[in-house]
Amino acid sequence: MVHYKSTMVEPIDLPSRGDRERALEEAGYNVFNLDAEDVFIDLLTDSGTGTMSEDQWAALLRGDESYAGSKSFRRLEAAVDDVMGFPHVVPAHQGRGAENVLYGTLLEEGDVALNNTHFDTTRAHVANQGADPIDCPVEVATDPGAPGDFKGDFSIERGREVVEEVGTDRVPVVIQTITNNSAAGQPVSVENTRRVAEFADEIDATFVIDACRFAENAYFVTEREAEYAEASVADVAREQLGYADALVMSGKKDGLSNVGGFVATQDEALADRCKQRAILYEGFPTYGGMAGRDMEALAVGLREAVEEAYVADRIEGIRTLASLLEDRDVPVYTPTGGHAVYLDAEAVFPHLESSDFPGQVLVCELYREGGVRGVELGSFAFPGTDRPELVRLAVPRRTYHREHFEHVADAAAAVLERADEATGLEIKREPEVPELRHFTAELEPS
Ligand code: F0G
Repeated sequence: MVHYKSTMVEPIDLPSRGDRERALEEAGYNVFNLDAEDVFIDLLTDSGTGTMSEDQWAALLRGDESYAGSKSFRRLEAAVDDVMGFPHVVPAHQGRGAENVLYGTLLEEGDVALNNTHFDTTRAHVANQGADPIDCPVEVATDPGAPGDFKGDFSIERGREVVEEVGTDRVPVVIQTITNNSAAGQPVSVENTRRVAEFADEIDATFVIDACRFAENAYFVTEREAEYAEASVADVAREQLGYADALVMSGKKDGLSNVGGFVATQDEALADRCKQRAILYEGFPTYGGMAGRDMEALAVGLREAVEEAYVADRIEGIRTLASLLEDRDVPVYTPTGGHAVYLDAEAVFPHLESSDFPGQVLVCELYREGGVRGVELGSFAFPGTDRPELVRLAVPRRTYHREHFEHVADAAAAVLERADEATGLEIKREPEVPELRHFTAELEPS
């Protein structure tokens, strides 16, 4: 199923093995420090790295760069209302800017935020308010082989346990991340969203949906949740998001844009409070760190994200990569999630301990073998938490095709073949904020 032809091309090149070895060493065995030029297939993230459509490029030209009351902002507002069903929009330069605006408004020192699983920037923003981010994934979420249609769900039982322990007053915010990025991009059912909304209501908390990948999530719902078998992705998306009091959104994912984000809410008073903080950190509330052009591209991208042909092609592309890897016996997290294929580094390197950072070893080996850049989401990225040692191969939207995926799968197969020779890594230098260490830390072979 292919729904695009390329009308702009970017040459890519595989550096020699010697150059890759050198680049890796110079990067301190941390692929965030590599130059993009030294990467052949870049699966570091699906965030802001996708290809825009002809309509998005056309929209850029009508960007209204007015400081206040830009026409482009009005078009973004209308798109958010039409696609997501939220009338009040506070724009931000990207998702984490929106997180700062919303969580800075809702959380205080000593509070607790519950989330099916906090993404790293979410965790850091909650912690930055002096609040405690507590994950409430369902048990199967951390089992890379367990079956399950909605392994991204929020465990209400776990949420209740926390509330009983700390008291309702300390839990002003309940968050649901759809899809659940840190749990292998697994989807969340609408049924679960409905129940979490009731739970949040019961404890008088604001229910926030982190909507980064809302369209991908809605596609899974139409496939797997009987009640929605006949529904459109657009209808599911609106219904699911509609249970939330507020959204935080990174336009760099299902906004199909290279930059941008926003907070959206039904609650005018909350929007007004967010705007005050947005002015301080992001910009006047009719641009929020985006150029008018960016808002135009995002407005068009949001509408495209819920088109059936787009989202079907998107999810099938990820499944193609997963099945090419499985054909070569590379252990992958199943079922495949929305935006990425997650490799199980513990299964690739059974002889390595988590203190050897097996996920990071796998990331380095994939680069060494094929110039492929993935990202570790295990004990290197999430110190002190008990997680499976996963490596994420995130797929930029509308960018790579089957032949790229074949190269990735061949590289992974080559790593697997000599997996028993791999040795661990240790940290040489790390930043002060532990939640963000994987972005800048340097490692060395132990
Ligand atoms: N929430 C989730 C679930 C995310 O995945 C991200 C970003 C953010 C918030 C922050 O958005 O990047 O626009 O500031 N995830 C990217 C990733 C970076 O690679 O998964 P942002």
